[in-house]
Amino acid sequence: MSKATVLTGITTTGTPHLGNYVGAIRPAIAASQRDDVLPCYFLADYHALIKCQEPERVRQSSLEIAATWLALGLDTANAIFYRQSDVPEIMELTWILTCVTAKGLMNRAHAYKAAVAENEQTADNDADKGITMGLFSYPILMAADILMFNAHRVPVGKDQIQHIEMARDIAHRFNHIYGEHFVIPEAIVDEKAATLLGLDGRKMSKSYDNTIPLFESEAKLKKLINKIKTNSLEPGEPKDPETCTLFSIYQAFARPVEVAEIRQRYAEGIGWGEMKKILFTHINEQIAPARDRYHALLQAPEHIEQELQAGAQKARAMAQPLLKEVRQAVGIAPIKG
Ligand code: TRP
Repeated sequence: MSKATVLTGITTTGTPHLGNYVGAIRPAIAASQRDDVLPCYFLADYHALIKCQEPERVRQSSLEIAATWLALGLDTANAIFYRQSDVPEIMELTWILTCVTAKGLMNRAHAYKAAVAENEQTADNDADKGITMGLFSYPILMAADILMFNAHRVPVGKDQIQHIEMARDIAHRFNHIYGEHFVIPEAIVDEKAATLLGLDGRKMSKSYDNTIPLFESEAKLKKLINKIKTNSLEPGEPKDPETCTLFSIYQAFARPVEVAEIRQRYAEGIGWGEMKKILFTHINEQIAPARDRYHALLQAPEHIEQELQAGAQKARAMAQPLLKEVRQAVGIAPIKG
């Protein structure tokens, strides 16, 4: 059976939170158990440098993200789990792709355009202020991540769709000039994957500072859940689950029968204190075993490093033949007598 390569990267700048878990990590780990896919999941540490110039944070985030995926049961016998920077072929391909990428294509990238637009609002009106070439050409690095493994499917959030379209453009351009070498990747946006709300009722996101870290201690998890904003209805008054942050988070962790039961309790006027207790117990039960494994892994970082090294070996075994072919195609080759 020929397997579809499913590839996605996680930028190593933060600590995983519950929103990352239900929106990306949980579905990715579930997908990795299917035997018709070859999952390639990686720590995008060279992407981290675009947003973050704090070495300690990049290092710590790489460790935490790797430990998180392993603790949650990513099966590294089936999936290829690696660190981008351990696969130098990706960087080499980045340059080759840079040379076929139109500058005009990069000009259209949302992230770059937003940075320019923000600069144009300021008094000194310097459109380029604070914009590095890393930010500008970041979609090319992302294209190389994907094309290096001839990935068929790339699960991403909506904000990343444009980057996949750019990777497709770049692949087409290369194939047009040099012959068919790259698979044209497809973005997979999981509409069913839950978007979790955060402490303040907006989407849970690091940029809103409203997250609940995935593997905080039990006490801290309880404290944060108690901080989730609710309205001021008293116990006994009927409540609307559909506009309730607690309910929306509960849904992401509960089975349909449990959700139906809680819906009924809302109609009967469940108190916020009690609902928070139920939510805490529910989430805690689900993540406690992984949390224990996570903390054990952090005590044994050499085990994490071993996993990443083994993953890098498998990744390079895939990347090397394709890079060789691509170098040959563009005329970078040994001189023959
Ligand atoms: N840019 C992606 C993000 O910020 C992470 C990423 C890097 C990625 N390389 C990738 C995702 C390749 C999919 C494929 O979320």
